[in-house]
Amino acid sequence: MTVGIRLVLGPAAYQAGMDAPTGHEEEDCWSRWLGQGRDGGDAAMRARMEAETAAYAARVLGFVPAPPGEMLDIGSGDGLMGWAALSRWPDVFVTMTDISPALLAQARAKAARLGVAAQCRFVRAGAETLGGIADASQDVVTSRSALAYVADKPAAFRAAYRVLRPGGIMAIAEPLFREEALSACLLREAAAQTADPLLALLYKWKAAQFPGTRDAMEASPLANYTERELLGFAKQAGFRGAHLELHIDEREVPPRGWEAFCAASPHPLAPCLADILARDFSRAEREIFEAAIRPGIEAGQFGTASRMVYLYAHKP
Ligand SMILES: C[S@@+](CC[C@H](N)C(=O)[O-])C[C@H]1O[C@@H](n2cnc3c(N)ncnc32)[C@H](O)[C@@H]1O
Repeated sequence: MTVGIRLVLGPAAYQAGMDAPTGHEEEDCWSRWLGQGRDGGDAAMRARMEAETAAYAARVLGFVPAPPGEMLDIGSGDGLMGWAALSRWPDVFVTMTDISPALLAQARAKAARLGVAAQCRFVRAGAETLGGIADASQDVVTSRSALAYVADKPAAFRAAYRVLRPGGIMAIAEPLFREEALSACLLREAAAQTADPLLALLYKWKAAQFPGTRDAMEASPLANYTERELLGFAKQAGFRGAHLELHIDEREVPPRGWEAFCAASPHPLAPCLADILARDFSRAEREIFEAAIRPGIEAGQFGTASRMVYLYAHKP
């Protein structure tokens, strides 16, 4: 793998797409979710999720056969993949790209705290274009749970291909939310056939967080793809030698406090249950819903399933 001459860009080099930090970057749905939204402020859940996401990152980096000189992470968030890469390959130079100024600022501050700022660059860029990143400049491109939110996924694969050097590798882990959307659609169909009000309330909850009709599902970037489409996008962009793994892991969830459960949401674009209950439910509906769901949550009776697609391929 080529280790090219590396130019470490200082503040004067903030170019198109490389906004200078102001220190006042506003919170957005992405930073709020990574900050608290995914665990609802529950410390045990946070620790559990951190362990899970660390394992996803390790698996993605494990697909890279040799230490890269330069690596770019798409939708880098607060830096999960970047920190994992820096601890695995002490000499790597990491470009973190994201659309969220707040998360880029957080990651930049963390790089300074970790003493790795000279090995990192932070670029505000959408996955669809990776604007500001030179052609054929990267040995490795990674992404974890970011392409799922991108409407034009084929463009994102083309952009990743463009910035890779020949021989470079793209390695990603993306969740599949299609099952959640399908479950919401099935709930809708079941609710229409029963007088039990609970099914309609469950549908109201799930349809607020995932597409709840077949049409909405096909129109949503979150739910309108399968692992086979991701593989197809990679091949259409020019990648070769693809390897894909679909991991479905069912997990038990330990008992959780009701407040924390209501404050959490399954992805950054979804409202939390507390907001859905306040916005979409009458008082009587809230009572029926809570009586049915809360005991199971507090007793740890409901599990979850993660569906993660791992894909790597190289640029010939
Ligand atoms: C669920 S978070 C994952 C963050 C990080 N990759 C991780 O694994 O912790 C999704 C990330 O994708 C970023 N994102 C969403 N849409 C994007 C787009 N069109 N281009 C680039 N990044 C995007 C968000 O800002 C957010 O940081």
